[in-house]
Formats: sequence, structure tokens, C-alpha cells
Amino acid sequence: MSDNSNANAMWGGRFGAGPDAIMEAINASIGFDKRLAEQDIAGSRAHAAMLAAQDIITEKDAEAIREGLLTVLSEIEAGNFAFSTALEDIHMNVEARLKEIIGEPAGRLHTARSRNDQVATDFRLWVRDQCDAAISGITALMKALLGQAEAGADWVMPGFTHLQVAQPVTWGHHMLAYVEMLSRDRGRFEDARARMNECPLGAAALAGTSFPINREMTAEALGFDRPMANSLDAVSDRDFALEFLAASSICAMHLSRLAEELVIWSSAQFRFVKMSDRWSTGSSIMPQKRNPDAAELIRAKIGRIFGANVALMTVMKGLPLAYSKDMQEDKEQVFDAADNLMLALAAMAGMAGDMSPQRAAMAASAGTGFSTATDLADWLVRELGLPFREAHHVTGSLVSMAEGKGCDLPDLSLEDMRSVHEGITEAVFGVLGVDNSVASRISYGGTSPERVREQIARWKAALT
Ligand code: ARG
Repeated sequence: MSDNSNANAMWGGRFGAGPDAIMEAINASIGFDKRLAEQDIAGSRAHAAMLAAQDIITEKDAEAIREGLLTVLSEIEAGNFAFSTALEDIHMNVEARLKEIIGEPAGRLHTARSRNDQVATDFRLWVRDQCDAAISGITALMKALLGQAEAGADWVMPGFTHLQVAQPVTWGHHMLAYVEMLSRDRGRFEDARARMNECPLGAAALAGTSFPINREMTAEALGFDRPMANSLDAVSDRDFALEFLAASSICAMHLSRLAEELVIWSSAQFRFVKMSDRWSTGSSIMPQKRNPDAAELIRAKIGRIFGANVALMTVMKGLPLAYSKDMQEDKEQVFDAADNLMLALAAMAGMAGDMSPQRAAMAASAGTGFSTATDLADWLVRELGLPFREAHHVTGSLVSMAEGKGCDLPDLSLEDMRSVHEGITEAVFGVLGVDNSVASRISYGGTSPERVREQIARWKAALT
């Protein structure tokens, strides 16, 4: 028989020699899955307690295992743990160290379990925590935006479509649009969390086990609602990670849109907001510059988060049931996406809370670009009884007249107006001001300060 002294300690019985170095490099996941140490140890402690409760191992061994695992955890947390690539992953690193600490009982921990249900459980616990982190990060950002909305509920600014001036809106209304978007994001993380909260532990390798385990007990100990009902599904499912990435992608897309607005608004051409010094950077050559780097980086984060979503979808798409080693590639994508989403949320909350909207600059800009043309058309319909299509036509002629004169609509004289439609009266000027324009948009969900304040009150009650 060949020398098997280099063979893997865990399955050396079957293998004659240790792995090639390149094999070890492609196979090992310890470099990244060490982040699952806490979840792995929580899962193993629950499993050991259940094995003892079911008389599968002795109470004494279970106690030794559970205590020993706490020692391992404290070593890892203190940075005193020597992770080994030869031991492949966090699961075998922890178990090997447990054996060094407590000896023979360590070998009983893996009864009625496989790394397949173990990793599925660990990763679910990790992603579940990240859903909670995302929910609180989003809530903090919603509060920052709500504060902005409250401070400038009735401040006018141009509203855009096609990034062309459309109609005046209020700053409060614009801020609340993002609060709505973020609340849907929060809902997606809540939904995903609720759906993923089933426990794979006890599915073993793929088929379940012949030991009389109690899956309700481990599920409950780990805070899951119930055990997963199909062992094949339990070890092969990564929907929970994909749902997290999908929710993260949509949320990051929202952050990116807000970031883009901040980049535009803080430019010299707009000057709608001033970013605080804490959230701006200078240029090494151009002394006048205040760059919105954090906003630009948030805008860019969608790339890697969406990339992670596509990467994991692609990993999973052709896999036959049940577990395949391909699935080890799930973790780095999710870790990176989660880290960057949380960072982007925190940076956006800091930036949004700190920025100063420039009321005068926004108001000056709100009236440009014939932004009250729709108000004029509506007035013609309401006061003169014109069909909307004709009112649109009359207004178009007035806009073109103002454009020819190089002025805005309220700068036209009554005579000018009458030359296009003789029914127009002085009263028309009442609807041409931007404040009148926004105040008139009182339909539910509209931009009038009155409606905006109602929504602010609703959100304030909901977010505290
Ligand atoms: N490191 C592995 C992973 O992350 C653990 C599961 C390994 N299972 C196996 N049958 N090789 O997927």
C-alpha cells in the first residue's frame, strides 16, 4: 500500500496521497468562508445538543463538543486561530481544531450530518443577518431623506422628464420619491428573509439520515421557522442568496439614481445642493473643485452588486440536483455584494443627511424652461372652456412667442397673450408663478406642499 501520511485527515481512509498543490488551491474555500465561523459554530452547537437529546450521542460528549466549540470561537474571534488550507473550508478547520481541544468526542459531531446541509445552514444564517443589516441601513437612509423632505417640504425646484424641465415640483416631494423606493427595497429584504427562514440542517448529504434526529429542535434553536421539507432541495437551494442579491441589485440601482442626481445637483451648472466638506473631496490640481466622489462610488457599486447576481445565477443555472461543488462559488459574490451594499447605504445616509439644498438656486431654476406651460393650458381649459388639445396648441404658440422674445411665460404681456387667444385675462398670471403651480397640484400623491406634508407625517409615524 502507498504512503498515505499526507492524505487528508478527514477522508484519508479512502485516499492514498495528499492533493496536488493546484488542486488544493482551486478546492479550498477557507480563504473566504472563514467569515462563516460564527454561524458554523452556532449550527454545530445546535446539532450536538439535538444529537444528545435524541440519545444519538451521550450528554457528556455533547457538553464537551458544545464547550469546545466555544473555545474555538473565542480563538477565532481573538485572531489566534491558525486556518489551514489543507483542511479546505471552515467546517473542517473548526472540527479539526475541536478534535485537538477535546479529543475523541469531536469525531461524533458529524453524525447524521454532511457538509452539504452544514454549509447550506451556515450560509442561510449569514444571509439572514445581512437582510437585517440591509433593512436597518435602508431605514437610516429613509430617515435622513425624510429629514430633508421636512426641512424643505414647500421649496420649489424644477421637475424633469427626459432631464428637460417639465413642471415645478417641491423638494420635499422629490425626497419622498426616494423614501417610497427605499421602502419597497426594505419590503423585498423582509420578504426574502421570511422565505429563507427554513432550516436545511438534517438534510445530511442529500437524502436525509437513518438516525432518529429532531429537525424541529435544531431549526428552532437557530431561529428558523421550520425545517426545510425536502432534503434534496435543502442542500441544493441557493434561492435565498439569489433573492438577497436581486433585492440588493434593485436597492443599489436606487442608490445609484440618487447618487447621479447628487452629482448633477452639486455641479456648478445646477447648484441645487451643497455637499458638506465631510462628503466632498478636492482636486490636487484644480483648487476650485469639490468633487462628489462618494456619490460617484455609490453610483458605481451597482456594477459589482448586479455582477454578483448575474454570476451566481450563472453558477446555478445548469446544476443537477443536489449539491455540486460549483456552489462553493456562491459565497464570495454574496460577501462582496453585501459589504458594498452596506457601505453604500451608510455613505448615502451620511451624505444625504449632511447636504444643504439651495432654496434660492432651485427656485430660480424652477421657473425656467417654460415649466408652467401646463398650468397655462389647464387654465385655458378651466376658465375659457377650451378643449385640452386646443389649449395645448394655444400654449405652444405662447411658448414659441416667449422663446422668440428670449423671456419666460410670466414675462409676456397680456397683449401678447391676447394676440394668440383673445379670451385670456389678467387672472392667467396667477397660475404662471411656480409657487402657484405646485400649490395647485393637490391630487393624491401630487407635489403640493399640502399633500407632501401629509406624506411626511405618514412616514414619520411609520419610521419611528
Ligand atoms: N466548502 C464547501 C462549500 O462551500 C462545503 C461543502 C462541501 N461539500 C462537499 N460535498 N464537498 O460548498
